[in-house]
Amino acid sequence: MKSSLIETLEGQFEVPLSRMRRIRGAVTKEMDAGLAGRKSSIAMLPAYCDAASGRERGRYLALDLGGTNFRVMLVELPGSGKPPRVIAEAKYRLTPGQITGSGAVLFGAIAGYLGKFLKDHEITSEIALGYTFSFPVQLLGIDEGILMKWTKDFSASGVVGRKVVAIQRQALAGKKVRCVNIVALANDTVGTLQAQAVLDPDCGMGVILGTGFNIAVRVASRRIRKETGAYRGKSMIINMETGNFNKVLPRNHYDRRVDRDSGNVAHQFAEKMIAGKYLPQLVRLVVRDLIRKERFFEGHVPTVFVERDAFKGWHMDVFEAGSRKAVQELSQDLFGRQLDPAERRMMARVCRMVSRRSARIAASLILGALTRVECRSKKRVTVAVDGSLFEKYPGYSRVLAAAIRELAGPAGKGIRLKLTKDGSGIGAAVIAAVVTESGDMRTAS
Ligand code: GLC
Repeated sequence: MKSSLIETLEGQFEVPLSRMRRIRGAVTKEMDAGLAGRKSSIAMLPAYCDAASGRERGRYLALDLGGTNFRVMLVELPGSGKPPRVIAEAKYRLTPGQITGSGAVLFGAIAGYLGKFLKDHEITSEIALGYTFSFPVQLLGIDEGILMKWTKDFSASGVVGRKVVAIQRQALAGKKVRCVNIVALANDTVGTLQAQAVLDPDCGMGVILGTGFNIAVRVASRRIRKETGAYRGKSMIINMETGNFNKVLPRNHYDRRVDRDSGNVAHQFAEKMIAGKYLPQLVRLVVRDLIRKERFFEGHVPTVFVERDAFKGWHMDVFEAGSRKAVQELSQDLFGRQLDPAERRMMARVCRMVSRRSARIAASLILGALTRVECRSKKRVTVAVDGSLFEKYPGYSRVLAAAIRELAGPAGKGIRLKLTKDGSGIGAAVIAAVVTESGDMRTAS
């Protein structure tokens, strides 16, 4: 019997166990190459800090930049393993002009918002700040690093190849924001790991499953063959930049299209199959094919599927798992009419095959990365996870956990996935505390 187009597509988006095993193996190899400074699609960037002990104390600022929203937080660390407390927080939205204009505009905007935050909260005496900057950065030490490339459609000019903190400091001086001292620069995955490590000594990994996708791991220093300057700790956290992994992935025609339409062609292949920024783009392309070939939607392409970014992640949530009422309300908004049952089923199937594939590939990468994690216990490891896909997408965390159990077998029992909300920001404050307390890992910048 000839299968329908949707069945063929579901086959193309399936990730069988055999493929998951191959991905896991390839990840381990790429990690070893990255740690040795050899060519690899996984950069394995040293974070110049080890997992927090939980004894970190004090009040710190955190600046969290990684998507169109960026956040400023004032965080209190009570020490003695108690949970950090967010005392104040503000979110600001960056405009497309700020993200894709010049570096001076982007960092100037951030400095302006930070200044506003300090004023609003009457912070006038000097305060240490941890900066979560969630892009591939080659750190020179704990408080400075060079941007290697932009991801997630950021493209501000004049920043790649330059020192990020120096540019930010200059922008702060330009806006007369004086009482802030940037003492640490970190990736969001590293922050997430740290935010959980404060509470849980078994935490060996931080994962972001949100707009972007990436993993940080705690690795024994003896495994790190490349240059790590004056760092002397027994273990170090490594920002893997896993989104760029590009081996043995089951990429199809739609993945190639998403790549071609992206702001960073031929980069971030794993991220483009996994992360929340790209999943709706895949759905859009598949639905457009169904419209063209099977006269789905009566053969007309609704405007929401014309532009690249008009169809959103939260729309997928609703089509995959929303109530009938929610689906109909959204359909009325997006298509100007309600969907018939066959159309509703089709939308749900497309969203499910795309989100499920994302979770199964993410599980394979997480298990690959775990092979190199330095754990305090042989039996247990906590994987701290932050990001909207994991937190909010219906059923995502369940499919991810099931895929991990399927691939890991009995060893999967000791792996605990832990939602670490706001980990990227809180973790930056934790790192700022580690640095301020030890004061020995800074670069001379
Ligand atoms: C992108 C960035 C990476 C970040 C991830 C999640 O992959 O390159 O640094 O951790 O997004 O935000």
